Amino acid sequence: MLEGKTVNLRVLEKEDLVLFAEWTNKPEFFDEYMSLAQLSISDIEKLLENPYEMKYFVIEKKDGRKIGLIFHFYVLHPSGRQLEIGYALVPSERGKGYCTEAIRIMVDYLFLSKDTPRVQACTDTRNVASQKALEKAGFKREGVARKDFFTRGRWTDDYLYSILREEWKEPKILTRT
Ligand SMILES: CC(C)(COP(=O)(O)OP(=O)(O)OC[C@H]1O[C@@H](n2cnc3c(N)ncnc32)[C@H](O)[C@@H]1OP(=O)(O)O)[C@@H](O)C(=O)NCCC(=O)NCCS
Repeated sequence: MLEGKTVNLRVLEKEDLVLFAEWTNKPEFFDEYMSLAQLSISDIEKLLENPYEMKYFVIEKKDGRKIGLIFHFYVLHPSGRQLEIGYALVPSERGKGYCTEAIRIMVDYLFLSKDTPRVQACTDTRNVASQKALEKAGFKREGVARKDFFTRGRWTDDYLYSILREEWKEPKILTRT
């Protein structure tokens, strides 16, 4: 369990898969900026055992209520791989700073546990909430990837964001112990 001030991140367990499917199969969970996905429990199980080493965490409020997901994975290139994060919150819990804190916790965790020079994130150029959350968590915008994803019937442009280890410097929420 990774403990923050207003939210905790808990590794997704088998018993969370029903809720995972319930959330991800609702178009409003990923909103208009992410692909529509209809996934069975067995599709999700396969997703969790892939070459991208995708790891999901449930975002929980301090009273244990589950409000969203944050995940990390590797983007694979012939010349190497980049560590990337993604996230989504249930609509009723957005705009309260929870995602920003979840991103900060995840960045602490990744720089403390993985020998990586950077953590990156990709967001639709129209997704202002996601851009703000990344910027508040210390990410910098690197540029635009044009027609990067096919989402909800059209090709969309994405901003690539990153935070470097030297910009992070030290844990903001987690400790080294
Ligand atoms: C992106 C998302 C995770 C952000 O979560 P969140 O908990 O609402 O984020 P935060 O509250 O920490 O920060 C969001 C910021 O954007 C602002 N914001 C929210 N919606 C906005 C909008 N439509 N236009 C401008 N600003 C907006 C909030 O006011 C807040 O800024 P502030 O702290 O300066 O007030 C959430 O909107 C979501 O789940 N969206 C659907 C899935 C998604 O897009 N995932 C990201 C894919 S890259």
